[in-house]
Amino acid sequence: MKFFIDTANLDQIREAMDLGILDGVTTNPSLMAKEGIRGDDNIRKHYVDICNIVDGDVSAEVIATDFEGMIREGQALAALHPQIVVKIPIIKEGVKAIKYLSAKGIKTNCTLVFSAGQAILAAKAGATYVSPFIGRLDDISTDGIELVAQIVDIYRYYDIDTQVLAASIRHTMHIIQCAEVGADVVTCPLDPILGLLRHPLTDIGLEKFLTDHNKQ
Ligand code: G3P
Repeated sequence: MKFFIDTANLDQIREAMDLGILDGVTTNPSLMAKEGIRGDDNIRKHYVDICNIVDGDVSAEVIATDFEGMIREGQALAALHPQIVVKIPIIKEGVKAIKYLSAKGIKTNCTLVFSAGQAILAAKAGATYVSPFIGRLDDISTDGIELVAQIVDIYRYYDIDTQVLAASIRHTMHIIQCAEVGADVVTCPLDPILGLLRHPLTDIGLEKFLTDHNKQ
């Protein structure tokens, strides 16, 4: 399972990269705004900065919601850097834009996916990634992990190449559950990734090893 970090914060991206386990980055307009990145030129520069830190795919989301606007923005984003993946919402115009950009060899990430039906359409259109939002489903008392498992099963049944990129991950259990059901990628903030490291018996065991070593 690949690990992407879901942030536009360069320090957090560097920290995850230093850990040696980072396979890519996802962003969205809310995450860019959270870092205070505004204006087309600044936004484009920030995407290039991110690409220069990581080795893998970097999702950059379109703002337009019409077909012409999405493909214009998508092509401009893709031209910024070979690592850019164009993130497009699962709406009618978005499906058309994914189909168009995929046919041109541009990688796409179909976002805001909340149902298996949406995931089937994203795959039919040729999306490189499909992003089911786990946490936001959990927020409304619907099992987000169940959706990830359902999409993984459908894609495996038909041998579909679109990768299942589990998004809206809020805690470590989401990551582990994604691994159990066979998600191709998880994208999450830095904290849940670091949270996977924590275990009190590791801390106690390490302290004892060091204490015993120092007694010699
Ligand atoms: O990648 C999508 C993700 O950023 C959404 O996360 O926590 O805002 O639901 P969240």
